[in-house]
Formats: sequence, C-alpha cells, structure tokens
Amino acid sequence: GKGGYDHYMLKEIHEQPRALRQAISGRVDELATSVDLDIDLPEEYLQSVEEIQIIACGTSYHAGLYAAELLEAHAEVRTSVHVASEYEFNGGRDPWRTLVIAITQSGETADTLSALRTATRAGARTLALTNTLGSTVTREADDTVFIRAGPEIGVAATKTFVSQVATATLFSVYLAQVRNGISTKTATRLLESVRDLPGAVQQILDQEDIIKETAREYADSDAFFYIGRAVGYPVALESALKLKEISYDHAEGFPAGELKHGPLALVTSETPVIALLTDETRPKKTLNNVKEVKSRGAPVIGIASDPETTGHVDTTFDIPDCGAMEPVVGNVALQLFAYYVADEKGRPIDKPRNLAKSVTVE
Ligand code: M6R
Repeated sequence: GKGGYDHYMLKEIHEQPRALRQAISGRVDELATSVDLDIDLPEEYLQSVEEIQIIACGTSYHAGLYAAELLEAHAEVRTSVHVASEYEFNGGRDPWRTLVIAITQSGETADTLSALRTATRAGARTLALTNTLGSTVTREADDTVFIRAGPEIGVAATKTFVSQVATATLFSVYLAQVRNGISTKTATRLLESVRDLPGAVQQILDQEDIIKETAREYADSDAFFYIGRAVGYPVALESALKLKEISYDHAEGFPAGELKHGPLALVTSETPVIALLTDETRPKKTLNNVKEVKSRGAPVIGIASDPETTGHVDTTFDIPDCGAMEPVVGNVALQLFAYYVADEKGRPIDKPRNLAKSVTVE
C-alpha cells in the first residue's frame, strides 16, 4: 500500500534515503577509496574501450546525461547520450571498442531494447543499468548493474532517478580506476559524497513544509523554466519533466547560458524560473542568467548550498553541503515541488493522463 501517504509518488520520494543506502551497500569500501560493482566485463576490455554510448528514454535519459558528464571528466572516455528512439549505431571501424550502456528502470522499455539490439547487431558490447531483476534488458545485455531502488509504482520516476545517478557515479569511479584516469583523492571525494547522499536527502525531506508552501504559492503559474549548467542541466531537464508529467503545466529545462539565445523571449513576471545553483553547476555563471530573468520580472527559486547566492533569488531551497552530489539532492527538492504543485491542482498524481509506467511500444 501507500504506507499512509496520499500517493505512491510521495511514498517513493520519502523512500529515497533507504533506496540510496541499498544502492551503495557493500559497493564502496570503508575508506571510500574503491568500488566493487561485480562487473563481469573483463578489465582488459574496459581498458580498451574508446567510446561509450548511452541509450535511454525519459528520466533514464536524464540520468544518462548526468552520467556522461562524470564518465568524461573522470574515466576520460568520450561519451555520447542518445534518446533510444533516435539511436543509430556509429562505432567507427572497431565497434568492439564501443561500450553501449542501456539505462532503463523497468528493463522493458521497447525503444531502449530496440536500440540495444541495434548495438548488439553492430558488434558493440553492452551493459544494462536497471532496477528490475529478470527483466528483458538483463537477459539481452552482456552485463548488468542493478540500481536496487526497490519497486516504483508511481508513473513519475523519482527514487529510481537518484539511484541511477548514484550507481552511475560509482560506475564512473570504477571505470576511471580500471583505466587509471583518477587520483585516489578525487575518487574519495566522489565516493564520500555518494555515501553522504542518503543523509543529505533526508535533510531535504525534513524541509518538506517549506517546499510545500512555496509550491502552493507558485501553483497558479502555467509555465515554469528550469535552468542549470554542467550536471545542473540534466537536473533541470529532469525536474521540468516531473512537473509537466504530473501537473500538466508547461515546464522546460534549459542550459542556463542558452536562455539569452531564444527562450528569454518567453520570460515574464508570470513565468517562475528555477535555478540550479549548487556545487558542481557553475553557480556564479548561472547567477548572471538569474539577473537576466529577474530584470524581466520573473520570480526565481534558487536551489543552492552557498548562502551567498540567497540574496539574488526570491526563494531558496537550501541544499546541505555534500559536495559532488549536491545537484541530486536539489532534484529531490524539486520532486517535492512538482508533487505539491500537482497536488494543489488536484491532479491524479500516480497515474497522469496518457502515460504508462512501462512503455512497451515503439
Ligand atoms: O523504465 P525506463 O527507465 O526505461 O522508462 C523510461 C521512461 O519511460 C520513464 O523514465 C518516463 O520518462 C517516466 N514517466 C518519467 O517520470
């Protein structure tokens, strides 16, 4: 059942500290220096990989964009991310040296499975990142890493997104170490941040009332813009998707720097802007974009961990300091925001119109 919550989505939002602990459990050593994900793909193969292609849909695609930033920065391997329904294999002369990673919560998404088959036929090796034991993707990919989030019933993916990002971060550190692309210091910084994540998410859940109040205040708006840089961009996309799915309001995520190249024309006092300003998202640069939208009258919600940014925005969701994973914690705050906007509008949050939990048609 819903465990006393009004919706599965809210229950699943609250399950995130536990889901994250499960994702991490037994995978990071005590000193936070190494990762064990039980990967079967041979190390020599992983060392020889020249390119990674990620295939996924929806929320899993956003987790893929997040993962790609980490893989490029730490494992130093060129990574591209593809909406699965648009994927065509292009692995150069040696497809064997391309690793294709399918990210799919259900393991049953038709578009993702079809892209995976394309990659397999072309001769690439494949790895699945999924939540679902025994799912089709686990049978078809060469290797599987589970995100261990537990069952998710709400159509809107919440705990599976944070678990995907946490697990992908562990995989990036693992791959970087296999390929000698990372110092122990950086590995430890990332792994400690992953380990701190469940506690930091709990701290956000403890601020639920403030987020709820803000959501009620903004619930009459019909259009919302989310902006972020670096890993703040996939979080902006994901947070906007969540709001549009369950509230039916228009919501878009943009790279903060792109606003002035077009979307800024839409910004008025009627369009709230939500800005990702945590660590790892180049907050100082994004503050310039915050100034641009404020001067057009837009109300701004800042997702921030540094009190210095507070003066520039109308409302702040305070993210506890937890280093590299702060943008993920920001996403949790914005899940709650989306939930309470939709709740204020009386939407059927667990089963939004026109959508299915698992999309098994192309
Ligand atoms: O099971 P999958 O991760 O493959 O599903 C992919 C998308 O259909 C899914 O993430 C969808 O976008 C969710 N409704 C988002 O909340």
